[in-house]
Amino acid sequence: MSDNIQTVTVLSKTTWTPNLFSFTVSRPESFKFTAGQFVRLGLNPSQLKYYKQQGKAGNDVANEALNEDIFRAYSIVSSPFDEVLEFFSIVIPDGAFTSQLQHLEVGDDLLLNTMPFGFLTLARYQKPLPKDLWLLATGTGLAPFLSMLQDLKTWEDYEHIILAYSARSIEELAYVKKIESLQEDFGSLVDNPAKLIFIPIVTREPVEGALTERLPKLLLDGTLQERADIALDIDSTHVMLCGNPEMVEDTKETLKTLGLVMNRRGEGNIAVENYW
Ligand SMILES: Cc1cc2nc3c(=O)[nH]c(=O)nc-3n(C[C@H](O)[C@H](O)[C@H](O)COP(=O)(O)OP(=O)(O)OC[C@H]3O[C@@H](n4cnc5c(N)ncnc54)[C@H](O)[C@@H]3O)c2cc1C
Ligand SMILES: NC(=O)c1ccc[n+]([C@@H]2O[C@H](COP(=O)([O-])OP(=O)(O)OC[C@H]3O[C@@H](n4cnc5c(N)ncnc54)[C@H](OP(=O)(O)O)[C@@H]3O)[C@@H](O)[C@H]2O)c1
Repeated sequence: MSDNIQTVTVLSKTTWTPNLFSFTVSRPESFKFTAGQFVRLGLNPSQLKYYKQQGKAGNDVANEALNEDIFRAYSIVSSPFDEVLEFFSIVIPDGAFTSQLQHLEVGDDLLLNTMPFGFLTLARYQKPLPKDLWLLATGTGLAPFLSMLQDLKTWEDYEHIILAYSARSIEELAYVKKIESLQEDFGSLVDNPAKLIFIPIVTREPVEGALTERLPKLLLDGTLQERADIALDIDSTHVMLCGNPEMVEDTKETLKTLGLVMNRRGEGNIAVENYW
């Protein structure tokens, strides 16, 4: 086993829907990361055996894949200052990893590669920072933004933070209560208590208070900017996109037509992370 790989223990589990769950694991003492980064989580064949004994094995594809350790990238939800590590996971029924991971229970072990990766961090932007930070997510792509929003520095560095988070149904719009508590808790520590503007988007059913169209359309016709009451301007904006690669691509292109540019070597507005 590589030096970077450690065994961690599941401490809690929250099931949002049959396809979505979150869990916390113990945090190795020496493990450090920056908000927005991801790690690799792993399962090994002996864990599959455990699942089999419990009558919880996945399908044949997954069983075959689990003849060796299998790792997947996972963004860290929790803040760099938390004692535990939190993750937010999809369940892909025939996915080699998540068809197994979905069965994990408190007390189970997981493998953690303690090398943090990724450049979807606020440190990538050169100073001076503009006024506004837009965080646009679909599905589990919310994860890195939750970590950033639990870091006081994010709140201190920007005048407004706009979080737009899109899911198919209201049940799949996880973490809404958490977002509301961040608005209260961190809002009370900074100059503007209404600094975090949360815009829920539910695309496959009407929900009071939520927008219903996809992100690129909402940006192109100005609905998102109108809801936030903030303009998207090349000089005043950083935008981060995370989640479905088609959303990332379509939204990136839309933002470019609105005059924003990709962030390269610290300069420019747009930073992205694709989940598959
Ligand atoms: C940088 C990075 C960070 C990631 N962070 C997370 C995270 O925090 N939470 C998380 O659940 N996944 C995350 N992923 C995806 C994750 O690595 C796996 O793809 C996911 O766990 C499914 O694994 P699997 O083996 O079951 O299916 P795979 O064989 O890996 O994927 C099969 C298909 O499932 C779909 N899919 C995969 N992941 C997702 C997803 N997250 N949401 C919706 N559809 C998906 C895609 O269509 C994909 O082609 C991340 C990926 C990357 C590259
Ligand atoms: N009930 C189910 O069977 C079920 C439920 C959830 C997930 N899944 C499986 O899980 C995977 C993905 O699920 P997910 O819901 O987390 O992710 P998803 O399909 O990416 O949907 C999450 C949000 O992203 C939006 N979106 C998708 N493509 C976009 C684009 N090009 N531009 C802007 N927004 C876009 C969706 O809008 P739209 O609604 O307009 O697509 C939705 O609001 C799939 O493999 C799916 O089969 C199945």
